[in-house]
Amino acid sequence: MNLVHRKLCSSALWAKAVAAEMPGNVAGFDLGDSVLEIGPGYGATTRALARLVPRLTAVEIDGASAELLQREFGERVRVVHGDGAAMPFEDGEFSAVVCFTMLHHVPTTALQDAIFAEAFRVLRPGGVLRAIDGLESVPFRLLHIGDTLNALDPVSLWPRLTTTGFTDIKVDHVPKRSVRFSARKPH
Ligand SMILES: C[S@@+](CC[C@H](N)C(=O)[O-])C[C@H]1O[C@@H](n2cnc3c(N)ncnc32)[C@H](O)[C@@H]1O
Repeated sequence: MNLVHRKLCSSALWAKAVAAEMPGNVAGFDLGDSVLEIGPGYGATTRALARLVPRLTAVEIDGASAELLQREFGERVRVVHGDGAAMPFEDGEFSAVVCFTMLHHVPTTALQDAIFAEAFRVLRPGGVLRAIDGLESVPFRLLHIGDTLNALDPVSLWPRLTTTGFTDIKVDHVPKRSVRFSARKPH
């Protein structure tokens, strides 16, 4: 992440907004007893989620961020330094997988698809994937100068998730703002 982005994601303002929105962002989904978050960053989403779910694991590709989170959360959240596209977890280990504001940081479509495939693998049958991300726009691009920006194409999500094996796929988006989607691993 570039400096502006790092400042924003670690700010009290971002943490406050995320904490206020999180209950609504997962409302209507039975996340179950063991949730995996991919891409926790500075932990704003992790902090908000940890209050809502019984057991939380977070996998973060950046070693320094993972270490900070391990120190902050201790026993409360299992923080793992690893890649969401090749995760060190057993098949069917989690009741839900969530990704918030991280998929646009994944540099290629193939790697995003690898994250979908890994989410599918580590979900139990019936488990849910819930994700929210920003969409391509001029302000979003300016925020990512000198940083990775590979925004999702909302129209591509249904075929990509179907190919991965997911069912019950729902995609909502506000053009140039955000996309919210969910999908289920069949029983
Ligand atoms: C913009 S931050 C969002 C953090 C947090 N979810 C939030 O909303 O505050 C995106 C995070 O995803 C992480 N990330 C990117 N690719 C990843 C991958 N393949 N596996 C795990 N984490 C990844 C980045 O290192 C970064 O910390």
